[in-house]
Amino acid sequence: MPDFKQLIKDLPKAELHLHIEGTLEPELMMQLAERNQVPIPYSSVEEARRAYEFSDLQSFLDIYYAGAAVLNTRQDFFDLTYAYLERAAADNVRHTEIFFDPQTHTDRGIEFDVVLDGIEEALKAGQRNLNISYRLIMCFLRHLSAEAAMATLEQALPHKHRIHGVGLDSSEKDHPPAKFKAVYDRARDAGFLPVAHAGEEGPPEYIREALDILKVERIDHGVRCLEDADLVKRLVAEQVPLTVCPLSNVKLKVFDTLVDHNLGALLDAGLCVTINSDDPAYFGGYIGENFLQTQQALGLSSAQLQQLARNSFTASFLPDDDISHHIHDVDRLFRD
Ligand code: HPA
Ligand code: ZN
Repeated sequence: MPDFKQLIKDLPKAELHLHIEGTLEPELMMQLAERNQVPIPYSSVEEARRAYEFSDLQSFLDIYYAGAAVLNTRQDFFDLTYAYLERAAADNVRHTEIFFDPQTHTDRGIEFDVVLDGIEEALKAGQRNLNISYRLIMCFLRHLSAEAAMATLEQALPHKHRIHGVGLDSSEKDHPPAKFKAVYDRARDAGFLPVAHAGEEGPPEYIREALDILKVERIDHGVRCLEDADLVKRLVAEQVPLTVCPLSNVKLKVFDTLVDHNLGALLDAGLCVTINSDDPAYFGGYIGENFLQTQQALGLSSAQLQQLARNSFTASFLPDDDISHHIHDVDRLFRD
């Protein structure tokens, strides 16, 4: 029996579904609240952690957007991002593609550039000091209007060389991908690579819309695809990556427990599945913990762990040469 804990720690990984605002640990939230004189509804780190009990996606989002209010300066965004990168390095993450939500900040009067500059400066420092490569993906908040998303895209256009992709997050129910067709058409024309959250709480139909109408390269979550056999066939045939987030899914009650998670079934179906942490400060674990707890709950084999790590690089937006190099490093671990 392999030492799964050690194997998972040693496994080179890419993280493809990570909201940088969701890495705000209560300790840093308290510090930034003090530094910026922003009131928060918690008097201690313990009280904040106790509040992190969610009944669904919306109950999480309410707390998550409130927490983000402590992020005001370029230094705050730097500190947030660098703290994540240090944790990712400890989990042997070699490449990360992180989401940020500009509207959460610009709607509070924080300049777009302040957010982007702080995050990017930390990503560059992480590349230098921790050897983690990166891509940045800007998400539109789907509970807000398509016009607001278009205005956000316009703000991003002068920074096209710094932002690789666009994504879609926030409240999925009643906000189908089709609502953002014009925004995605324009974003793709401008050269942004498109991804979207779909099939987390929303129906398989939203996954189809993301593929057909938004023409996405990856589906974030996508776990509800198993309700639609034809859709699964298509996702397998086209090897559309699904960025699955097991601990998130349990915290937000998409599955009752990790034992009930369908990740094993997704892998068995031949889908290109990856494991990611989503909002680790809120969901109880970074990517290594997501791998470990899922391995234990579902009894994943070392061949399945190898497949998951390979998939994380195959599904990334890295150039082919870099992908081959990382996959070689993954495979080296399994050679004896
Ligand atoms: N789903 C939708 N919106 C989000 C999430 C998520 O898992 N995390 C942060 N914003
Ligand atoms: Zn997410």
